[in-house]
Amino acid sequence: MAVTYGPLSPEFSADPFPVFHRLQAEDPLHWNDRLGGWILTRYGDVKLALMQSVERMAPFVTHRRGEDRIYAEELARHIGQWSSFVNPPYHTHLRQLMNRGLSPVRIEQMRPRVHAIVNGYLDRVGDDRRLDVMRDFAHLLPIAVMGEILGVPTEDVDQLRAWADELNLFVGTALRVPDKYPRAGRSVLAMTEYFRRMIAERRQAPRDDVMSLLITAELNGVRLTEDELVSTCVNLTYAGHVTTAHLIGNAMLGLMSHPDQLAALAADLDTMPVALEELLRYDGPIQAMTRIAADDVMFEGGQVKTGDRLFPLLNAANRDPAVFADPDRLDLKRTNNRHIVFGQGPHYCIGAPLARLEAPIALEALLRRFTEFELAGPPVWLDSLAFRGMVSLPLAVRRR
Ligand code: HEM
Repeated sequence: MAVTYGPLSPEFSADPFPVFHRLQAEDPLHWNDRLGGWILTRYGDVKLALMQSVERMAPFVTHRRGEDRIYAEELARHIGQWSSFVNPPYHTHLRQLMNRGLSPVRIEQMRPRVHAIVNGYLDRVGDDRRLDVMRDFAHLLPIAVMGEILGVPTEDVDQLRAWADELNLFVGTALRVPDKYPRAGRSVLAMTEYFRRMIAERRQAPRDDVMSLLITAELNGVRLTEDELVSTCVNLTYAGHVTTAHLIGNAMLGLMSHPDQLAALAADLDTMPVALEELLRYDGPIQAMTRIAADDVMFEGGQVKTGDRLFPLLNAANRDPAVFADPDRLDLKRTNNRHIVFGQGPHYCIGAPLARLEAPIALEALLRRFTEFELAGPPVWLDSLAFRGMVSLPLAVRRR
């Protein structure tokens, strides 16, 4: 029987990996009618696909009509300026300026604040043993950290999170939300307006924050334009939120389904850096990327034509048996872990150092404070083609 890639079904959300393995073995270049593109699941093919064009907004707009069309055009206009959606050489220029603001040194300076923010959320957990890892913690933390890095006032973070979640209906490609275009469109307009105001304030009175650094960052005498600054702030807020939140949730669920490994990690938290790479590989927060073939490209499963739409699946690549021994086994001591959860090539994740700082602090804090993690209800998976994560992970825990 032919393999079906069915990202809408609850069984698929709970465990997409059997389908990924069948695609890898039987149909590595799989056509999907609904998406109008090719699904790629083998490690080598996914890496090759990631090198194709990222200017991929047009198909999301072309087939929309009425109000959806108006908002889709608005979304394409704003989001089309993000670094993830522009090709070199312009991308190289934009990325170098972004690097000036979001340098690894700047991120490392956040370490004490990340500890404090993590502890602030976990201190709120009551004595009723209930902790929804997503709702009470993972969904709150990354945008609070990103907001602080940019220089957003703490009291605005809840509003930013709400906007970013609405925007995610479009960018993350929700499949079951009929009014996603107006909802995401209104949120991107609101975020744009918000950051325009903040940037104007910073121009008057610069502060010690990344927004002020981005305003003055220069490359060969050129600075980011007003529109580039605004779209970069929206981009960082959004990208820093959805990804790391789902990493923390997926990692906890992965650990809970391997109690022996959870116990070993809790007993020796120095092994966290290696364990984190395996948790990223095992069930990463990004599922489908999108690309447009820049040429006729020959993949292992066959050839695609210039202009074809491609969907390289990162989580499938990270479980390719041709690259990872026993790929479905969570092995927190795995070495030579060549996962590509942060992408590949010019668009490699600019936030990887932040994710690698934040997620271990979050996981360590959970393992230090609590023990006996048990599901208190079924996990609720996010409706998204692009991301893999949960909106709710309700647990019963015990304090150590
Ligand atoms: C576990 C957490 C994260 C994962 C798995 C992740 C994954 C990725 C991936 C796969 C890409 C490549 C996109 C593409 O090729 O089209 C990417 C790009 C990007 N990420 Fe992340 N990311 C994470 C965290 C973050 C954080 C915390 C930030 C914010 C600081 C961030 C900001 C970005 C930006 C701005 C880009 C675009 C870079 C470019 O196009 O040059 N990410 N990320």
